[in-house]
Amino acid sequence: MHIHAYEKLWLALSIVLILLLIGSVTYGAVGPGIAMVSDSGGQIDATALDEDDRFADPRVEQVGENSYEVYVVAFQYGFDPGTIDPIVVPENSEVTFYITSPDVIHGFEVVGTNANTMVVPGEVAEITVEANEPREYGIVCNEYCGAGHHDMEGTMEVVT
Ligand code: CUA
Repeated sequence: MHIHAYEKLWLALSIVLILLLIGSVTYGAVGPGIAMVSDSGGQIDATALDEDDRFADPRVEQVGENSYEVYVVAFQYGFDPGTIDPIVVPENSEVTFYITSPDVIHGFEVVGTNANTMVVPGEVAEITVEANEPREYGIVCNEYCGAGHHDMEGTMEVVT
C-alpha cells in the first residue's frame, strides 16, 4: 500500500505525541508519588515504637528558630503528649506533627486548624500547622477506635 508523504509525517507526529503522552503520564505518576512519600512520615513497626528515636520518647522538639517537631503516639485512649500533659509550643512557630499508633486506627485533629489526619498503625502521619496566636486548642480523635473513643482527647497550648 502506498502511503503519501503527508500521511507519513502525520503518522510520525502522532507517534511522537503518543510517546510524549506516555512520558508525561509516567513522569506525573512518579513526580507526585515521590512527593507523597516525603509528605508522609513513612512506615514504622507499630509493635516496636519503644525502639524508635521519635516515639520511644514522645515529645515536642525545637528544630529551628521558630520551628518545632512534635512526636505523638495516639493510643486507646489518648495522645502522648496531649492528654496527660498538653502539647506546648510558642506563638509564631511552625509546628510539624508526626503521629503514629501502636494499636488501632485513630484520628488526630487539632480543632480549629488544618491539622486533621488519620493515624494508622505502621504508618507515620505528618502534618504541619502555623501556631500564631497564643491560645488553647483541643485535640480530638475522629476515627471510632473503641469504647473509649469519645474520651480520647488532648490539648495543645500556644503560649507567649
Ligand atoms: Cu482514637 Cu477514636
